[in-house]
Amino acid sequence: MAVSVEETVAAAPGPRGHWLLGSLAPLRDDPLGFLLDSAAQFGDVARFRAFTQRGYILRHPEHIQRVLVDNHRNYNKQSRGFKVVAQFLGNGLLTSEGSFWLRQRRLMQPAFHRERLAGLSSIMNDEAQACAERLKPKARSGEEFNIAAEMMRLTLRVVSRSMLGAEISGAEETVERSMAVILAYGMRRISNPLLDVLPARSTRRFNKAVADMDALVHGIIAARRAKSAAPSAEGDLLSMLMEARDEDTGEVMDDRQLRDEVMTMFTAGHETTANALAWTFLLLAQNPEAEARLRQELSSVLRGRAPALEDLPRLTYLSCVLKESLRIYPPAWVSSRLSIGPDEMGRFRIAPGCLILVSPYLTHRHPALWPEPERFRPERFLEPATAELPRYAYFPFGGGPRQCIGNGFALMEAQIVLATLLRRFHLDLVPGRAVEPEPLITLRPRGGLWVRARPA
Ligand code: HEM
Repeated sequence: MAVSVEETVAAAPGPRGHWLLGSLAPLRDDPLGFLLDSAAQFGDVARFRAFTQRGYILRHPEHIQRVLVDNHRNYNKQSRGFKVVAQFLGNGLLTSEGSFWLRQRRLMQPAFHRERLAGLSSIMNDEAQACAERLKPKARSGEEFNIAAEMMRLTLRVVSRSMLGAEISGAEETVERSMAVILAYGMRRISNPLLDVLPARSTRRFNKAVADMDALVHGIIAARRAKSAAPSAEGDLLSMLMEARDEDTGEVMDDRQLRDEVMTMFTAGHETTANALAWTFLLLAQNPEAEARLRQELSSVLRGRAPALEDLPRLTYLSCVLKESLRIYPPAWVSSRLSIGPDEMGRFRIAPGCLILVSPYLTHRHPALWPEPERFRPERFLEPATAELPRYAYFPFGGGPRQCIGNGFALMEAQIVLATLLRRFHLDLVPGRAVEPEPLITLRPRGGLWVRARPA
């Protein structure tokens, strides 16, 4: 007898949840715990319902690959998560789809080519040194400070200068405040459809934060327009966007689209990398042996110099430290898609119109793939067993056509920043302040990461 898709889907295991709300509450209150528990209890494909939305949590690398690569056309970004993100980012590279997205991606890709990135390393070095200078008085006084906030400032300045040719001095605090509001509200909105219709104070605060960010982005665009009638002199991503002409109509990008692309790069290009750096400082402080080994590598390769571009490939342990940090605390901890038509994941069929959650946080803890998954052990990235894992056992930058465009940029920046700061300082965690992950749109240390610096 033929089995209908619905019946097969019903056979897929998963939490029952509340009769009306399904798993909405655990998804909202403890999403990381919900993902881990569902997979621990039901395996690689767990079915759930959040109010009226049916969905699947996928954990196995083959299933991740099916969604992101092999059958990616069957999974779009019309999920509630992306719709909420689009309220802020508009129709930029992260949220757009189809032939429009492809055209924009092709247009922007050259800004991230290897040779281009090499040219940006001096800005990264410059800003890392400037950050070290800001930390110097703190190291002298021994005061407590939030290194996660320092990393936000640093990465914001790097992406603004290198991609948008803009100095944003003075606006860092506005961005920090606005982003905190936007990310927290975004997460609430995803799990609370009532916010779509009911007026709420949090919605007004969100609108104000978006307006502040808009003013900043429009300022960057206006400043560039005023600076030069021929923006090609700058040769950066912003000028590529401003000069691009539609092949058919010959028209330039309108202001709305320009705003969306700039806002996307501005936010996607700093928040994630700053969080990756903060998590790495935490893990190093908690694992003195790994930190000692890293310091040894830095001193033998750099011999007291600032890191140069040519040094990076020789800093192999540093690269393992970063990979391991992105494994344990992937800043883009979950990504969602909506299934268009039916599909199959191993024994289970996926129905159309379902929410698909793929989470590097979850897959990076798969007990069959990653021994002692909670343990910070950068050496694992030097071992053959790790090299033999399936491609999508590890995907902090996503995969397939929608893979992060800033992957190489982020890794280079993080290496330069870590090498520069660790050469100059030791960071000690402030005792008594527990650090826990806060899964907003990105994974952040809740309340920041509070440290004291000492000269190295
Ligand atoms: C450690 C740092 C970073 C992490 C962990 C990260 C992670 C990701 C992930 C997982 C995606 C795919 C999302 C999905 O498929 O649903 C993505 C996309 C994207 N990222 Fe990153 N990212 C980082 C840094 C950056 C930087 C530095 C930039 C820009 C300068 C950037 C710009 C983007 C853009 C524009 C997209 C959308 C690409 C597309 O769909 O064509 N990211 N990122």
